Amino acid sequence: MFLQPREHAQFRLEDLLAGGNGLHYEHSVVALAAHLDGPVPVSPDEAATLLSCSAESWQDLPASPVHRDRVMRLIVEGVLVSDATEHASHAAADATLRASHWWPLGALFHRLSRWSGVDSVSEMERNQMVTAQDLVRHLGAPPAETLPRSPGAVALPRTDSSRTGELLMRRTTCRNFDTSRKVPLEVLAEMLGEVLAATSHVDPEPGVRFLKKNVPSAGGLHPIEAYVVAQRIEGLEAGVYHYHPVAHELARLPSQPESTFSRRLLSGQYWFADAHALVILVCRFERNFWKYRNHAKAYRAVVLDAGHISQAIYTQATAHGLGAFVTAAINEEEAERLLGLEPMREGPLAVCGFGWRSPQMQTAEMDPAGHIWKVQS
Ligand SMILES: Cc1cc2nc3c(=O)[nH]c(=O)nc-3n(C[C@H](O)[C@H](O)[C@H](O)COP(=O)(O)O)c2cc1C
Repeated sequence: MFLQPREHAQFRLEDLLAGGNGLHYEHSVVALAAHLDGPVPVSPDEAATLLSCSAESWQDLPASPVHRDRVMRLIVEGVLVSDATEHASHAAADATLRASHWWPLGALFHRLSRWSGVDSVSEMERNQMVTAQDLVRHLGAPPAETLPRSPGAVALPRTDSSRTGELLMRRTTCRNFDTSRKVPLEVLAEMLGEVLAATSHVDPEPGVRFLKKNVPSAGGLHPIEAYVVAQRIEGLEAGVYHYHPVAHELARLPSQPESTFSRRLLSGQYWFADAHALVILVCRFERNFWKYRNHAKAYRAVVLDAGHISQAIYTQATAHGLGAFVTAAINEEEAERLLGLEPMREGPLAVCGFGWRSPQMQTAEMDPAGHIWKVQS
């Protein structure tokens, strides 16, 4: 549990008329806890009570009625947990969290950075922050595109592009998918096999297995599972599936979402929602945290794992003549509900997608050298 002081600025005309700058700051304190979904405002007295409580051992309720009422309110809000049956849900969430071996700040970051019902596109439009010009108008110029050159630096030879170099040059985030075509099941199978399948394994102890894959993973633990939203795959019923990396098979989930799911999952990013297949990268945190227990780098490591998978999806999609994307601007809670995930044990870190690129560009892509889209003369 962390306490955060907050300041909320309000405009007050009377302050302006009295010669001030019109701004009035309201101070408040919130308690943040990774077993709760949101901040809980607390009074200074409640904050003091929280700081006097043990984080590890049970304490009796205070005898004094004033202190008792204060503690009871914090119990009802879930910031303090109690062993009374009527407050069992908060205690269970706290127990799950403790058993998962999160590093506390990582846990807080993950819990509180999840979205539900966010429409990032409407927000961008409302705030007029859509184009690069909009951003510069509102935010000024960004820091320089890279560091300045250093005198005496060693000039490197520029070689002819290698085969992989040529391939990677054609990797451009796809925001225009061709909804008139389907991707053959064989292509989907190759994509999943090349990026996500186990290619072999190591069993250091009976019953303990480490999978070998084409992507790297912190500690060799491969905690990320892939859930595939098949949207236009020839020979595969549209729907959400779990991809099994050892059996190389797709298991259809018993509960399937409404047709608007993809767009909601992608926080309104309609340019991605049409991809032929989406891949929700869901981390089983406990698999990584088994080794990186209460570890300050563990969350960073699993996010990097997701990044490696995303780059491999981009590369393989490009090799297959498909377009691909990755985004972290997702409504994690939508996915958690659909997939039946317990938030601090398993959670989506990113969504990738791929499919045939449309012949027409409706939404901008970054291809200044015209590797994908012919440069207009
Ligand atoms: C972690 C990550 C998150 C991204 N999120 C979004 C996103 O939410 N929406 C989007 O349109 N593009 C997203 N992108 C794509 C970037 O905008 C894109 O990589 C960048 O504009 C450079 O273009 P390129 O990938 O074609 O080289 C994301 C890329 C990364 C690596």
